Amino acid sequence: MTRDRKLSAILSRRTFLSGSAMAGAAASGGILHAGRAAAANPENLPPHVPEWSQYLGAGVEDAPYGSPSQYEAEVVRRNVRWLTATTESSVNFTPLHALDGIVTPNGLCFERHHAGVADIDPSDHRLMIHGLVERPLIFTMEDLKRFPRMSRFYFLECAANGGMEWRGAQLNSCQFAHGMVHCVQYSGVSLATILNHAGLKPNAKWLLPEGADASGMTRSIPIEKALEDCMIAFAMNGEALRPEQGYPLRLVVPGFEGNMWVKWLRRIEVGDMPWHTREETSKYTDLLSDGTARRFTWVMDAKSVITNPCPENPVQHKGANVLTGLAWSGRGRIARVDVSLDGGKNWVPARLEEPVLPMCLTRFYYDWQWNGESVLLESRAMDETGYVQPTIEALRNQRGTNSIYHNNRIQTWLVNPSGEVENVQVS
Ligand code: MTE
Ligand code: CO
Repeated sequence: MTRDRKLSAILSRRTFLSGSAMAGAAASGGILHAGRAAAANPENLPPHVPEWSQYLGAGVEDAPYGSPSQYEAEVVRRNVRWLTATTESSVNFTPLHALDGIVTPNGLCFERHHAGVADIDPSDHRLMIHGLVERPLIFTMEDLKRFPRMSRFYFLECAANGGMEWRGAQLNSCQFAHGMVHCVQYSGVSLATILNHAGLKPNAKWLLPEGADASGMTRSIPIEKALEDCMIAFAMNGEALRPEQGYPLRLVVPGFEGNMWVKWLRRIEVGDMPWHTREETSKYTDLLSDGTARRFTWVMDAKSVITNPCPENPVQHKGANVLTGLAWSGRGRIARVDVSLDGGKNWVPARLEEPVLPMCLTRFYYDWQWNGESVLLESRAMDETGYVQPTIEALRNQRGTNSIYHNNRIQTWLVNPSGEVENVQVS
């Protein structure tokens, strides 16, 4: 079927979301309002003096640790209740649609736990290094904080991000279809520094990091990657790691699937072969259509998503609109992001916002005029190796439909004439 016929088929069978606050909003095209003008109280608008200018605000002792404005209460991590049997072995999602720039605020980083959040007293936490090393060592947190330190921005994406969308569009939400990714600045010590301190034996080829949570998460990591750019991090975005993100210590494995970034890191064994743990045999492998499975698929392929407009962010005005999104690649820097308004027939380059860092989220913008008609919005990332983000059709041809992990398809958002936006697949 051609893309045009697909679009008309999609349009004709859609029943639009009922009760949406957006119904008819697009008709007001032309005037740009800051925020949702419909909800404004005229008493607070010029020429009146708004109520908040008429009395004293909160004092400096009222919020020792700051929180977002009460009007941002909807900007939270959310989970999908039916997705997992328990909340301890589960996931919630980053509200990508409500964020800008490239940094994810600490309280909004998606969480993926296999046995809940470990509650660790840092003075009782230890990191043990053993196996094929000259000097097996046990470090306290204080010991680790005396080594030369580094700070780097990296994205972390769960390999299962978008995993429900292999057989068709499932979740009508940017947050749920793409929100298993976050990007923060990590501070800590390079793993190479710690390994060299213990002294690697000549046959040291693999590492087995282990978490101190009840899941005892373990993965095999090749020594080349460990020495290249891995970090042992104790801070994120300037403050101590959040408990959800592995307090007091987590492994940072830039560009590799999130599962390998072991949280609550307590032990690293050095060996000469991979361990073939549960997380690299039964899980985190990709079943192909011929019945064989890909294994050790570590690198996160280049991907992008438009975060505005999206199902959570309907288009409110005809004329000028900000189209923006995020792109990332586990292979290095994003070289280019193209945007399509017609489901992938024609492409125009988006503006990449600085900084554009390797293995980090990159923000893109495209200054867009909406004429009030149906459009199929897509973004397509290319990284510095020349790798181009594939369509879902190309991905299915290569990998079948049995996979869960590593679904980096081009996302299509259908913008309806009402301004509402839907998750669709056109190829
Ligand atoms: N480490 C431990 N110890 N236990 C876990 O359950 N989950 C892994 C990884 N590290 C996990 C872990 C998975 S599958 C992912 S995607 C990332 O942590 C999620 O990191 P986040 O919770 O900071 O988003
Ligand atoms: Co994961």
